[in-house]
Amino acid sequence: NLKISLCLAIAFVGCLVQAEQFSFTNYKLVSVLPKTPVHVKLISEWEENPDFDIWTRIKGVEERVNVLLSPNAYLKYSNFFELFKIPFSIVEENMQSRIEEQERSMALSRNSKNIVGRFARYSEIMSFIDNLAADYPNLVTSKVVGQTHEGRNLKVAVIKTPGSKRKVWIDCGIHAREWITPASCIWTINKLVTGYNDFDPAIVSLLNYFEFHIMPLHNPDGYEYSHTTYRLWRKNRKPNRNNPSCIGVDLNRNYGYKWMTGGSSSQPCSDIYAGPSADSELETQAVENYIKQYLGEWDTFLTIHTYGQWWFTSWGFTYDDPPNYDDLKAKAKIGVDAIKEVNGTVFTYGSSAQILYIASGGSDDWAVGEAGIKYSFCLELRPGQTGPDSNYGFTLPEDRAPLAGEETFAGIAAFLNSIKV
Ligand code: ARG
Ligand code: ZN
Repeated sequence: NLKISLCLAIAFVGCLVQAEQFSFTNYKLVSVLPKTPVHVKLISEWEENPDFDIWTRIKGVEERVNVLLSPNAYLKYSNFFELFKIPFSIVEENMQSRIEEQERSMALSRNSKNIVGRFARYSEIMSFIDNLAADYPNLVTSKVVGQTHEGRNLKVAVIKTPGSKRKVWIDCGIHAREWITPASCIWTINKLVTGYNDFDPAIVSLLNYFEFHIMPLHNPDGYEYSHTTYRLWRKNRKPNRNNPSCIGVDLNRNYGYKWMTGGSSSQPCSDIYAGPSADSELETQAVENYIKQYLGEWDTFLTIHTYGQWWFTSWGFTYDDPPNYDDLKAKAKIGVDAIKEVNGTVFTYGSSAQILYIASGGSDDWAVGEAGIKYSFCLELRPGQTGPDSNYGFTLPEDRAPLAGEETFAGIAAFLNSIKV
């Protein structure tokens, strides 16, 4: 790469910052329509390949699946599709144009001091929490609960009043490219802090019962990498011992409950690589240890992803119903109904294995199976799998961040009010 070698020759330090972004020029988002069970099986097998990046779920026969393909992968798989007579069509010819649209949407706000409602960077998010802790010492505490492979802090904002009794966990950004989720965690923190200070009765009563432990960036190394270098990065950034050319573990396959029992990969190059062993990753260990420090005090564990517009209960590792499934669904419905009230956004609820696919080693299953937390949910925020914004996938323009923040907060608040005793 000319630019980088020039850089090396001239001045090393300044260049690292300028390293170029990977371009998704002519990467295609392809909608594939399996017609037979054999088609479904083929698509599930291709999902293991690093060059077959499925963005939506494989539901079954006659249900479309969106997959992102490089120009080369497109040549390869379009041949396969034709060979096996699987109908397909291109829904986005050039993914880079969506990424650039998202970049343009962020240009105006980039230098704004206020990070609420935008796709802020790691250092901005850390300062945001620290500043709140400094400004509202009786309400907000900033806790570093671990560090990543690249040395970034894993930070939790604790929002707690003297009266609060029960703990609520919320994490965002476990998957690097899911930018709308850290934005929604930030939105939630801001809602709680400003609401409490303005004597908003709904917020005050929420905070008199619950204390919030919010980690806006579960995967800061991956998140920064998705900003600087490779927009659609998912995993963390720890190099793998056996295969240095493939980097990163899928943190949501690494949790130590029913690890590697399905829907995860032992291949370091896979996007759903579960890691060399359960709990091998610093990010996973940090959250598990933090939760275990207060075992028995958690009412709920919420982990935020995108996209699909789902409110998932456990289990993810098995199709079996989780404990108290009827109660979980009743609570999920309360959340989903409240989300719809705000902007009309429609979420579907139920067990993630039953609705989406089997995936083991997820934090939500760990929260139930190991930590014994009753209400463990995984939320998949906007866009939906269909609808006007669906083909943006992970690259929604920034003006969707406040919408996602507001509806997600409403859903979480309604759910929490329903479990207050
Ligand atoms: N999209 C998420 C993932 O693939 C869903 C996780 C649902 N939870 C689970 N334990 N499978 O990681
Ligand atoms: Zn995710």
